[in-house]
Amino acid sequence: MKMMKAVYLDDYGAVENLRVGEAERPQPRPGQVVVHIHYAGLRWGDVMARNGLPSRARATPFIAGQEATGIVDSVADDVTMWKPGDRVMITTAGGAFAEYAAVSPQSLIRVPEGVSLPQMLAYPVNMRTAYYMIYTWAKLQEGERVLLHAAAGGVGLLALQIMKRKFSDIEVVAIASSDQKLQMLKKEGADHVINRSTQDYVREVTEIWGPKASGFATGGQQTGGVDVAFNGVSGDTLSKDWQVIRKRGRWVIYGYAAGRGQLDTSKFGYDGITVMPFSSIAWMGTPEYQSATTFINDWLQNETLIEPTIYPLEDMQEVQRQFERGETTGKVVFSV
Ligand SMILES: NC(=O)c1ccc[n+]([C@@H]2O[C@H](COP(=O)([O-])OP(=O)(O)OC[C@H]3O[C@@H](n4cnc5c(N)ncnc54)[C@H](OP(=O)(O)O)[C@@H]3O)[C@@H](O)[C@H]2O)c1
Repeated sequence: MKMMKAVYLDDYGAVENLRVGEAERPQPRPGQVVVHIHYAGLRWGDVMARNGLPSRARATPFIAGQEATGIVDSVADDVTMWKPGDRVMITTAGGAFAEYAAVSPQSLIRVPEGVSLPQMLAYPVNMRTAYYMIYTWAKLQEGERVLLHAAAGGVGLLALQIMKRKFSDIEVVAIASSDQKLQMLKKEGADHVINRSTQDYVREVTEIWGPKASGFATGGQQTGGVDVAFNGVSGDTLSKDWQVIRKRGRWVIYGYAAGRGQLDTSKFGYDGITVMPFSSIAWMGTPEYQSATTFINDWLQNETLIEPTIYPLEDMQEVQRQFERGETTGKVVFSV
């Protein structure tokens, strides 16, 4: 029996429950493709899955990991879509943190020529989210001002790049937690940067664009603040963002990296802010899904791509700790 390296989740919860071990190397069953994994990507969904979110339906232990890139190793006799040697990306509910994975042919995405296997991991999920945030959900317009949380993260950095490369007049204030990340964000075109570990972002945004008109007495006045806030962190920011979102602005909430938080809409009831909690899941199979795919393919062919940060698979526990503390930058990838 041939064996392979794999990262198991032994039980839901702590990062210590992740273990590098051995598993039987899969062979393709009818309707399956076996991929030799070279790189696996880390995303917030892995942290959520480890914590049993959105469900604990899967019995532990299991091989963790939701995305990987590699080379098709073997295919079942009934599979004609793929052949050994094809460069592919896998997205899956689990099993990507391993040297080999058996998957359905429909779940594979071809890695375009000129795109490296680690680079590819940064795009299909994160750029889809960034695309929806900007075009489908906020319907961002030239001339608008944006507040972007976790701007140096996997989704955030791509959102910043889209706003700066595909629009000519979007002013962005980007939030991150270290000066090193802020420097990188400035290089990527952020107009203003805020270090959330040393600065109060409500005060800083108010300094930059002036106080927003808020409440009953100010009627329809629209003064300082931002038109749109992109928030993938929630937590205590749900009690703060509205303080800098202008009257009739949009508040896109697409993640919970800082915890679920609490939203009290009575605080900004007179401000006419549209609160938009969003997930890419709700757009599966829609024309917008196809538009996002076209956008991503075009980007992969024509734009300068980011270089992910690569760690050995064996460092899984420590890297997940750093990721959760907000210490990683951009896309995090493991070399398998
Ligand atoms: N709605 C969807 O369809 C969809 C799809 C994909 C991802 N997401 C969500 O998008 C968010 C970003 O995902 P990602 O994979 O790109 O992760 P990420 O942004 O690379 O990592 C999360 C970032 O959140 C920031 N953060 C802010 N407050 C934090 C706190 N209290 N604790 C920890 N981190 C904090 C950290 O950056 P700083 O420390 O620099 O602030 C950290 O790097 C996640 O919430 C994810 O669930 C949503």
